Amino acid sequence: MHEIHLDVIDSTQTYAKEHSQEFSKEGITCITAEEQTKGRGRYQRKWTSPRGVSLNVTFYFHLPKSTPHLISLAQIATLSLAKALLQEGLKPQIKWPNDLRLSEKKVSGILCETRMSSESVEMFLGVGINVNLSPEQVAQIDQPATSLLIETGKPWDKTKLLKKLQTQFSQDLELFKKKGFAPFHAQFEQLLAFKGQTIRCDDGKKVWVGILHSLTEEGQLKLLLPDQTLHTISSGDIQSEKRPL
Ligand code: BTN
Repeated sequence: MHEIHLDVIDSTQTYAKEHSQEFSKEGITCITAEEQTKGRGRYQRKWTSPRGVSLNVTFYFHLPKSTPHLISLAQIATLSLAKALLQEGLKPQIKWPNDLRLSEKKVSGILCETRMSSESVEMFLGVGINVNLSPEQVAQIDQPATSLLIETGKPWDKTKLLKKLQTQFSQDLELFKKKGFAPFHAQFEQLLAFKGQTIRCDDGKKVWVGILHSLTEEGQLKLLLPDQTLHTISSGDIQSEKRPL
């Protein structure tokens, strides 16, 4: 893995997009920063990353255009991080498609951006982890959030966690390139939050309300609708729905 560590930057994601022509086309380039002043989340949301306490990572790499299940790649990185946290004795849950939760609050999010070049797809996979954020820092986040420090009561070594994530993600990426999402399906589904519960899912065009049923072989969401049909969603944003169906 090629490593680039920055001190302060607007966003590791924006930096990677602006400098990608300088990075190797082989392997993974891992860009990290101590602080982001304009961290970006999914759907143009802001990602809060105060100085020194979060892991702000962008993995940059090329994939062949023919790679199967490309749409589920961010979910692979989510699972890589979930596995790293499981090894540390934590019980992460995945809020489909790629948020990680601890004690029902967000601890990590992933932003996946792509750029087509003539012969391959450039991937920009941004991972944000609330590592050593204090309760006061977490309270500044615009949704229920937590940190590894808050959940375990001890400060975490960010470098060690990054190494674990890098190792796990490199392995998972190799398997994904050969076999797609299939080898990850069972564990991903096992860690899913809200399984069997009523959720609402905004797919960008329409808000669907239904029971979170399962995942397709490619990692898409299957919702059981009130008329008992199954509806498949490839990308979207889900929330728990308190009202019964
Ligand atoms: C989300 O939950 O909406 C995704 C958050 C992704 C945040 C990471 S932090 C590193 C990288 N740089 C960014 O600006 N965003 C991603």
